[in-house]
Amino acid sequence: MKRWWKSIAVVVLAVTLVIESVMSDPQTNKLSKPGRECSGFDAGSPSEFFRNVNATFADLRRQLSVQKKHFATAEQASSANPVYTLFQCRDYLSTADCVACFNVATVDIRNICKLNNGARVIYDGCFLRYELRTFYTEIELGLSSEECRGNGTVPAQAAYTLVAVQLLKDLAEATPKIKNFFAVAKRQVFDGGPSAKASVTVYGLAQCTGTVSQGDCGKCLWGGYSNLQGCLPQSGGSSAAGGCFLRYSVTPFFADNDITNITPYLQGGSSSNKTAIIAGGVGAISLLLLLIALLLWYRSSQKRRTDNRGDILGVTKLQGPTIYKYKDLKSATKNFSEECKIGEGGFGDVYKGIISNENIVAVKKLEVRTSKEKADFESEVRLIANVHHRNIIRLLGCSGKGPVQILVYEYMENGSLDTFLYGNKRGTLSWKQRIDIILGIARGLAYLHEQFHVCIIHRDVKSSNILLDDDFQPKIADFGLARLLPTDQSHLTTRFAGTLGYTAPEYAINGHLSEKVDTYGFGVVVLEILSGQNCNKMKNELLTQSLLEYAWKSYNNGTHEDLIDGTIDSGEYNVENAKKMIEIALKCTQSPVSLRPTMSEVVVMLVNYASPEQQKINKDSVKYIEDDV
Ligand SMILES: *[C@@H]1O[C@H](CO)[C@@H](O)[C@H](O)[C@H]1NC(C)=O
Ligand SMILES: *[C@@H]1O[C@H](CO)[C@@H](O)[C@H](O)[C@H]1NC(C)=O
Repeated sequence: MKRWWKSIAVVVLAVTLVIESVMSDPQTNKLSKPGRECSGFDAGSPSEFFRNVNATFADLRRQLSVQKKHFATAEQASSANPVYTLFQCRDYLSTADCVACFNVATVDIRNICKLNNGARVIYDGCFLRYELRTFYTEIELGLSSEECRGNGTVPAQAAYTLVAVQLLKDLAEATPKIKNFFAVAKRQVFDGGPSAKASVTVYGLAQCTGTVSQGDCGKCLWGGYSNLQGCLPQSGGSSAAGGCFLRYSVTPFFADNDITNITPYLQGGSSSNKTAIIAGGVGAISLLLLLIALLLWYRSSQKRRTDNRGDILGVTKLQGPTIYKYKDLKSATKNFSEECKIGEGGFGDVYKGIISNENIVAVKKLEVRTSKEKADFESEVRLIANVHHRNIIRLLGCSGKGPVQILVYEYMENGSLDTFLYGNKRGTLSWKQRIDIILGIARGLAYLHEQFHVCIIHRDVKSSNILLDDDFQPKIADFGLARLLPTDQSHLTTRFAGTLGYTAPEYAINGHLSEKVDTYGFGVVVLEILSGQNCNKMKNELLTQSLLEYAWKSYNNGTHEDLIDGTIDSGEYNVENAKKMIEIALKCTQSPVSLRPTMSEVVVMLVNYASPEQQKINKDSVKYIEDDV
């Protein structure tokens, strides 16, 4: 009995210590990256500017310690050398820790950015920034910095990844709706064994600076959310932008009694969200407001760029879509000449353009004639401007005035995937590169379907719509045909918009549209990647059947490894693995639709089967996923 009490006492003591150690830590591990901390120009020293900086620091310290705030701003605005300063610490820090983090930040910021009149430092526990202009409402998504921590040794990796993604997604959805823009939460990952014991717990945090709008808070967190996808399945990561901070870790960094109940802020399905956005897309007034806002933003950023050397670092260039002048794009593409033409996408042709003699961009000229198509253009801009994922091509800006409507995208030197499979660069991709490309496309589509705040169905997934960057990472392009998913998920569409060979039969024949249409197209693209064959034009004696028919036949005969591209050295891959990849591709092209996996299920399968070691490690978690998802 005595012993029993003793052990309880020890446990209680230990728990108290753990909580104590979590709580009394100002968390001054620095996250901001050298080179991104200082901006602006030399303010000279000793100068009024830095006296003003000191004054704002004193003001902030008083707000933190006396008023016990966790977010504060202070400025010396009427001075000839104005200073605007913002500080925020995570809400779970005690007042003493918050002040301690602030003290570390003020010393660091002076040491790091000695004479710059713009500076920021970011820590696990807090964030300090000053500028000579007001910036409190900016989210600066483009300047976010990510840090991935830990390693890939988390148990039940696939299940862990799913749980962590869901946690971050829920935090990004809930936090903008919470009054102080702050939430922490944790989720347990079950390893799927018979005892269903939690193998690991994921802790997550989301926070926006108190001065951004609710909409921008959401935008910023969704950006951070997509950036953190790249960190998983590592054991931790954080993403910090001007307007928000998002972090996850398998190690607790806050105490359980700080946990926010985010459930009331999650709306089961996001269908109400979708309706709102569709309504917004249709409303001409909101569109007009958006265009005016873009114009004003552009004007003011142009003005700032010329009369404020504080933007030398290109801060403004990285925010939001740019409105380009039609005549600039015309000269960038040599009057849309044939020599600059690099492709033909849905809706119109694509040109390579050189803007301001240095930036290479892809310019998509839209054949927009009817007002319906015009509305499509506008909704496309609205939508794509907010899609941020490393496997999806980035929209830089647009031009709506002038005789045609134009979208400007980042330019991919390597061009499209089809040329590497069966075009003039045939045979140059290694097995590993191909597997990485497959995984990247799957991640991009999963993002569009399930992780972006509205479901986007691409409708025209094909190898010529996949671009490759310098590292041969895939970027999904051409959302000319993308539409929002209607609330009734399997409605009849009025317009067929796909490409023969890649289009799911239920869509091609009956116009039934769902995310599984993209799953089908993805399956066909995977077969092309593995075989180096065009789905519509098989080489040699196979001319009479499509690649897909051939793949199914050889799968049924057990000869499917014959499908693998002969240009790949057979030493590069394991036959069993190659068969697994073909199986995944075939699963994606099954009918009825319900048999096809969702893209996030595909990601999990790929992560598990991509290498034999992975397959062994994650056997349990695969079972979990197959049973429960
Ligand atoms: C600002 O404060 C720091 C630290 O107290 C001090 O070293 C520095 O001289 C002050 N700068 C000015 C311009 O007053
Ligand atoms: C991964 O992280 C864990 C816990 O932080 C550590 O014990 C382990 O040694 C690390 N493994 C590698 C390969 O770095």
